[in-house]
Amino acid sequence: MPKSVIDILDLTAEEIRELIASAEDIIKDPDRYAHACDRKKLATLFFEPSTRTRLSFEAAMYELGGHVISVPDAGSSSAAKGESVADTAKTVSCYADIIAMRHPKEGAALVASLNAAVPVINAGDGGHCHPTQTLADLLTIWREKGTFDGLTIGLCGDLKFGRTVHSLINALSRYEGIRFVLISPEELKVPGYVKRESIKKRMIPYTQTTDLMSVMPELDILYMTRVQRERFFNEEEYLRLKDSYILTPEKLVSAKKDLCIMHPLPRVNEISVKIDSDPRACYFKQVLNGKYMRMALILKLLKEAGTL
Ligand code: NCD
Repeated sequence: MPKSVIDILDLTAEEIRELIASAEDIIKDPDRYAHACDRKKLATLFFEPSTRTRLSFEAAMYELGGHVISVPDAGSSSAAKGESVADTAKTVSCYADIIAMRHPKEGAALVASLNAAVPVINAGDGGHCHPTQTLADLLTIWREKGTFDGLTIGLCGDLKFGRTVHSLINALSRYEGIRFVLISPEELKVPGYVKRESIKKRMIPYTQTTDLMSVMPELDILYMTRVQRERFFNEEEYLRLKDSYILTPEKLVSAKKDLCIMHPLPRVNEISVKIDSDPRACYFKQVLNGKYMRMALILKLLKEAGTL
């Protein structure tokens, strides 16, 4: 079975370091990579809405000289007729050299990887994880801070259903001197399994609070997130919680001068557009970095599968 990336921990810290070096090389000299994946095909299978992740995968493959095949949306694929994820993965393996899959069910990408003959990249499985967003986040932190060690990272918003948060916590838990500040309403705290498997297992210091302002001065990174409406069972609960945190310029008065403000996007209401021109706003840099990290990851997985 070729190597797939379903969870960020499928990549060692050393492999992440190499992916960052590879992405930085692509940024420096994109022409050198323009034919790296000539005649190779990426299949994008997105069974949930997406703008950035899907387009960045597709742009990444085109910039490597490869091709992209996809279904326009889940409703027009055989999944709508009741085909299993396993059968879809076996089928798409006959047409594509690598698959990027997003699915509303936790574990769907894992099932696909166990049945596909080509590498599968998890582009988000329900409220579980989103490893390639984490790669985008890590390159952004690396380029802004020059290190992962010794940072105090504030994660704010929907820490329960936010899959980007779960993957980022797992990834950052491997570095030295990290400290997490988990800021959320009581109802949207980080799930116990995420805390147990990384924060507690690695004895990372962390605090939990509902009050963003009280911790603002401590933070090196502030990772804002959207309340994940599609994962709520109850619309009223969503409406009650959706505007729990809205970052405005006034709230940044006590923040560090070199704070890095991040958001996986899409933003709904969590960050005022007035912050977009603040040099500390890094969320559109994340978008661009995502494309470079996906280029680096596609190259790595195709090489390891013996396709390149
Ligand atoms: C995130 C996701 O899909 O989990 N979006 C993304 O891929 N950049 C975050 C979100 O939807 O809130």
